Formats: sequence, C-alpha cells, structure tokens
Amino acid sequence: MVKSSGYVAFIDHRFLREAIGELKRVLGDGCEIKAMLEEQALLIEAQAEPQPVPHGSAPTEFVDSLLRIRSEVPFTGDYLAAVKPLLELIDGSSFALEVKKLGLHSGETAKSIEVILGRSLEGMGASADLHNPELTIYVLLTGTGILLCTSELDVKLAIDRFRAVARSRYAPLNRSELKLMEAVELFGIDIGSVRRCLDIGAAPGGWSNFMLKHGATVVSVDAAFMDYADLESSSTIVVADKPLPLALAQSLPNAKLRSMTFGEASVPGVIESALAGPERGSLVHLVCKAQSAQAQLLSVLGQFDAILCDMNCAPEEAARTLCAMSGLVRRGGVAIMTAKLFNGAAQARADSSMNILGSDYTGFAAKKLPHNRKEITILAFKK
Ligand SMILES: C[S@@+](CC[C@H](N)C(=O)[O-])C[C@H]1O[C@@H](n2cnc3c(N)ncnc32)[C@H](O)[C@@H]1O
Repeated sequence: MVKSSGYVAFIDHRFLREAIGELKRVLGDGCEIKAMLEEQALLIEAQAEPQPVPHGSAPTEFVDSLLRIRSEVPFTGDYLAAVKPLLELIDGSSFALEVKKLGLHSGETAKSIEVILGRSLEGMGASADLHNPELTIYVLLTGTGILLCTSELDVKLAIDRFRAVARSRYAPLNRSELKLMEAVELFGIDIGSVRRCLDIGAAPGGWSNFMLKHGATVVSVDAAFMDYADLESSSTIVVADKPLPLALAQSLPNAKLRSMTFGEASVPGVIESALAGPERGSLVHLVCKAQSAQAQLLSVLGQFDAILCDMNCAPEEAARTLCAMSGLVRRGGVAIMTAKLFNGAAQARADSSMNILGSDYTGFAAKKLPHNRKEITILAFKK
C-alpha cells in the first residue's frame, strides 16, 4: 500500500479552465494536474504534505467534488487486494463504499465490485451502513491502480450521479428536477418550510413537481405548456390566452384540471382560493412570459416563500427578472436560479448575475451541480 498526497477532482470538462483555477485556490498554486481520467476527473498532486481542506470552508463553484487519495493499491486483477487497506481506513467506523470505474475496462460493473468488496469487509467484522455511514470511502478503479479516497468537499454529493439516483429510487419528471433536488441537498435548504412557491420558466415542470412533492403550493410561469398529467399536484389550474388544446385538456381528469383565460374576471379569485385552500400541492400555471402584461396577475396573489428560475436565457436577464419580481417574495424567502453559461467567460458571467441579484437578494452560494449542464445553480435569500 502506497500512502499518497494526491487528490481526485470530479469536474465537468466544459468548465475545465474554471475548475483548474479553483483547484489552485483550494490546493495551492503549486499543485500539479497529472492526468485527466475519462474526461470527468483530474488526478492532482499537491505539495508533499498536503494541508487538509477544512469541510465547508473552501467551497468551489465549478468542481463537482474533491476527494483526497488516502491510499493507492496497485491493481493486478484482484479487487480483493483493496480489502486490507480499506479495513485500515475504516478503522472501526461504520462505512459505505462508492466504487467508480475511471479507465478500468472489465466486464464487472462498479456495482458488482462494490458488493464484492462490501461483503468481504463485513466478513472481516466491518459494519456497513448505506444510509448513515460514519465514513464513505470512494474506491476509484483506474487502469493501473485502486485509489481509496475520502471526500474533502461536498460530502453530501455522490460522485456517480446516475447510480445515486437509481439507488434512491427517486422518479423525477425530468433531469431538471434532479438539479433542484441536488441544490436542496447541497445547500441544505429547508424545503419543508416553503408553503408557497413561484417557479419562473417552469415548463415542462420538473422543478414545480419537486416542490409539489414537498407539499408546496406552486404558481408556475412559462409560455410553454407543462406536462400536466405527470405533475403530482392535487389540483391544477391553467390560465392562458386561449382555451387549452383539447388533447391537453383531456390529459387529466376534469376534477383535477381547470383551465381559464386571462380575460375571465373571476381568475384572481379562483387562483387566490386555490392558493389559500387547506389542500397543499395545488398548481397554478400562468401561460405567459415572466415579463408580460399577463404576469402582472401575480401582484394580487400575495407573497411567496420561494422563487425559482430556470429560464433558458442569459444569466443577467434571469437575474434582472428575479429582481423585478422580488416584491413577490417575503423577506428571507429563498431564491434559486440557474445561470446558463453557454457564451463568454463563465466565471465572469456568473459573478455579474450575482452582482445584479445583490440589489434585492443576499447570502449567496453558487455551485455547478452534477446534473447541471453548462450552467451553475445560484442560491440567495430575499433581503
Ligand atoms: C430549461 S427549461 C425549464 C425546465 C424546468 N425547470 C423543469 O424543471 O422542467 C426553460 C424554460 O424557460 C422558459 N422561458 C424562457 N424565457 C422565459 C420567459 N421570459 N418567461 C417565462 N419562461 C421563460 C422556456 O419556455 C422553457 O420552458
């Protein structure tokens, strides 16, 4: 077993430059990138005696997770060679393993290797705890070595996002819903306290669905229709310029779906009673753009506990929209926004959207989450 002073950083190759900049900040300018593994992880050598990175004290926006290599076992075809060093690392704590193949080509899946290693460890008296382990060890299988790592940052994020979701048996409406789930987990947002939520750029409905599942009543704003049949709402009201197309209207039982046009005089009252009703989990969809005259209807609906924005537009425009709507959010209310960083310098544009938000919001955190594509997720609170 070779003691190592190395790190593995999981990154998104689309933000490579930004991630390397942050890694130098966290690990020191002298750290050296040794290799890129499978376009998703950087192997890094830090100074001989690496300073431990204190949990939470050096947050990164563009690095998915940073693992410290605790030991390295040469791989000669037998995964069980890792058992003894694993036992040493676990040292009596309850443990969970997360195995990931990074360049090792073998017929066995990471999952089956995880089971083999976990069973052997249990056979030797170690106690596995998949849900609340004292120690999670990340076992990375490269072409030549088995790297045994622990997390330095973002302890709550799984490194293999697809398996983690499959394991949790969580059934999202779409990938976007997982972005919001990750934001809530990583930023530690008390989602249960959000009773009324405003979701801007909501279609087809992943974020709204996540909030409905957590018991909020949701007002969604988007000119596109949503996947009403898949939304876990107790009742749905759609307010549009025109009556709903028949196919959509028929997609939900009448008792659950109500549609009306903006012109109907009773609309504000109907929405208010849906939002005020004892039943949580109702959804109102205003079929319009956030900046349109129809969206003025929101001003009669009172205050929201949370505002969400996943509009596909420039990050500065999304930030300005959240500022324009900040009067709808109660003081201390949570704001979550994705900054789409398709064009231009990612870090600068993320910073400029947070600067704009700063006029009405405070307490910022930002992170490229595993399910984000070329975007980061920003958290803030209404001043
Ligand atoms: C990435 S999708 C949102 C996905 C959504 N969060 C989900 O979970 O399903 C972006 C949405 O933003 C909407 N959008 C773009 N500009 C908008 C605007 N000015 N007002 C309202 N919605 C807008 C688009 O119509 C599109 O449905």
